[in-house]
Amino acid sequence: MNNDTFLRALRREPTPYTPVWLMRQAGRYLPEYNAVRAKAGSFLALATNPALAAEVTLQPIERFPLDAAIVFSDILTVPDAMGLGLSFADGEGPRFANTVRDEAAVDALAVPDMNQLRYVFEAVAQSKRALNGRVPLIGFAGSPFTLACYMIEGSGSTGFERVRRMAFARPDLLARVVEINVVAVAAYLNEQIAAGADAVMLFDTWGGLLTAEAYRMFSLASMREVIARLRPRNEGSVIPAIVFTKGGGAWLPELAASGAACVGLDWTVDLGEARRAVGERVALQGNLDPVILLTDEKTVVRESIRVVRAAGAAAGHIFNLGHGILPATDPDHVAALIEAVHRESAALRLESCAPP
Ligand code: CP3
Repeated sequence: MNNDTFLRALRREPTPYTPVWLMRQAGRYLPEYNAVRAKAGSFLALATNPALAAEVTLQPIERFPLDAAIVFSDILTVPDAMGLGLSFADGEGPRFANTVRDEAAVDALAVPDMNQLRYVFEAVAQSKRALNGRVPLIGFAGSPFTLACYMIEGSGSTGFERVRRMAFARPDLLARVVEINVVAVAAYLNEQIAAGADAVMLFDTWGGLLTAEAYRMFSLASMREVIARLRPRNEGSVIPAIVFTKGGGAWLPELAASGAACVGLDWTVDLGEARRAVGERVALQGNLDPVILLTDEKTVVRESIRVVRAAGAAAGHIFNLGHGILPATDPDHVAALIEAVHRESAALRLESCAPP
């Protein structure tokens, strides 16, 4: 691997600077992404075409000195493979033709045949080949609970009230959906690892909507189970996992004990306080508010430096946003961010080891 700063930071080993990647780094803020998406015809046509998916996975790596790539796909491929019928209406977000809201629908639900997701594993393999060792490749999945949110609600939602109601009215049904998702997500990630993913990330976008007790029962426990089921490509090695519960700031010590190598942070958390909360057992990833990229270059640089300084010179920080990059982002601001993080973190390391 030419640049393994990301993998070293995941192991909390020293690196000459803080590695950076950005959630949704291949996306609509890049004109070259929009061109390939237009050629494919739709987001789903793009995501299910391994050659095009690999092409857009590489786009941000070609344009910026990023320290990791993430395979271009979506978390909703898994419930789609369960037969729920995923579609994206333009400007409306995801929608499922079938939902999982009652006993009969849960009875009919099963772990999908991984052959139906071959296009994802092929996109991982082709991305890995195209990267040619430049930077590590991240595979990913939705958390079992976050997938259950979309499966039960049938679409995106601000509050997922139907799911939260089920957590109390029919906890047995929600638990069965989550358990099927655990097995599916673990198998899905293991296939991505076998195809070449160097690390995996669990996106728990909606776990933060739950009460503490329901979070532990339906989201945290299921992520712990997925991580326990991960299998490295080579006997004796470890596959680092990143867990990200958006709105999970209150549960950082428990996330740090999940078996993950790294805990992702949204922007509501102070990185220094997060480090004190989790101790030295995990790396931390985050956490610039993505709206900061919609300001001006001076503000982007100032706030990026603030995040680097909050993390400090110690090993084990991976710079990222606190959630996905917004489509209105100016690519020049991304370039300024990466440059500022690399420069400031390198300077901070020199300062911290300079003789008094
Ligand atoms: O980070 C990356 O660059 C990898 C690609 C990636 C996508 N989705 C591509 C995508 C990743 C990691 C995801 C994860 C994902 N997908 C999550 C978890 C992270 C998060 O953002 O909370 C969720 C909840 C989804 C489900 C999903 N997919 C939604 C709600 C939407 C519509 C909202 C939107 O941003 O438009 C998608 C579509 C989607 N997935 C797009 C991309 C680039 C936009 C589709 C387009 O090109 O029109």
